[in-house]
Amino acid sequence: MTPHPGFDDVDLVALRRRRSEKWAAYDADVLPAWVAEMDFPLAPTVRDALAGAIANGDTGYANTRGLAEAYAGFAADRFGWALDPAWLWPVADVMTGVRGVLELVTEPGDAVVVNTPVYPPFFAVIEDTGRRVAAAPLLPADAGFALDFDAIEHAFAGGARAHLLCSPHNPTGRVYRHAELEALAGLAARYGVTVISDEIHAPMALAESIHVPFVTVPGAAEHGIVVASASKSWNVPGLKAAHLVAGSERIAGLLDTRLPKHLRYHVGHLGVIAAEAAFRDGRGWLSELTAYLDANRTLLGRLLAERLPGVRYVPPEAGYLAWLDCRELGLGDDPAAVFLERGRVALMSGLPFGDEGKGWARLNIGTSAALMDEAVRRMAGSPMS
Ligand SMILES: Cc1ncc(COP(=O)(O)O)c(C=O)c1O
Repeated sequence: MTPHPGFDDVDLVALRRRRSEKWAAYDADVLPAWVAEMDFPLAPTVRDALAGAIANGDTGYANTRGLAEAYAGFAADRFGWALDPAWLWPVADVMTGVRGVLELVTEPGDAVVVNTPVYPPFFAVIEDTGRRVAAAPLLPADAGFALDFDAIEHAFAGGARAHLLCSPHNPTGRVYRHAELEALAGLAARYGVTVISDEIHAPMALAESIHVPFVTVPGAAEHGIVVASASKSWNVPGLKAAHLVAGSERIAGLLDTRLPKHLRYHVGHLGVIAAEAAFRDGRGWLSELTAYLDANRTLLGRLLAERLPGVRYVPPEAGYLAWLDCRELGLGDDPAAVFLERGRVALMSGLPFGDEGKGWARLNIGTSAALMDEAVRRMAGSPMS
């Protein structure tokens, strides 16, 4: 592959000076490949917008008026989604948005469906709000993993009021097909369930994969809400800006009248500045990023086959998280703990992702090919370079 300056040349010394949790949580001899943030420099357009704001002392309260137009332009271009900019509600981050919607569409004690293994804060937000987790685990499938519609229908029929969908899915990287989302919309309509579709990883659908916003499939707009953000794809999760999008009058009316008004005041000004720059002017950089991640996911397959052939790996269809089945390695329920111990490399343990995470670990490949190579070397217990 042609080397790509910005993405290939990440500098470990500079990375170790970062103060974010990814770099702060472990000792200096550990290579962090766990939490979902990337090692690349910022997209120039985002960096310049933020630098301009800092230079101008523009660090006041968020002005979110331009965000809706910027996102609508991006969504039309990338997803073919003609959303109404008036139907967008800024929130501080995706999980704040999820919580706000969950509290609107469910009551304490209600069951909320999740497709395990899944992003661990999904359990926390359901439990913290006094709701109950109803797990409908993903099924093994040709593409790696698939929604289990029997399990979903069983949970809906049993009284679940909401489905917290992770689309694309973390940790598997699955991009749901149009037909799957349409089937889910049909069930949601039949049982009166609201689908809260967390689409934070959507801009990073890779190569052949096409992300379909949930509310665009037939029958979904009356029963779904999209939660989106620039934070993962342009690596600005610390700046705090995300948004909810409705696809129908009914849902827009609900958000307009019942979403707590205070939520908008928690949005980060720098996050909005970064998001607007990203959605409006950061599409070229995003294409370069996804091309690089596409190459990384393929390279990872080769590196694992060479050095850790016991690991089973289905490349992600979106994003930079690789969900690794390490059960054949015989490292016990928490292989990430063994990788940390023997190789000083920090992956995410599979355990907090739900029962299906036993014996699995999640590797972050949002880094240079060289650092990913180093991570696999360390996982295999080879001497550190
Ligand atoms: C699926 C998913 N949702 C939400 C988040 C967190 O988003 P935020 O920081 O905007 O709450 C992440 C972060 O990795 C994620 O993977």
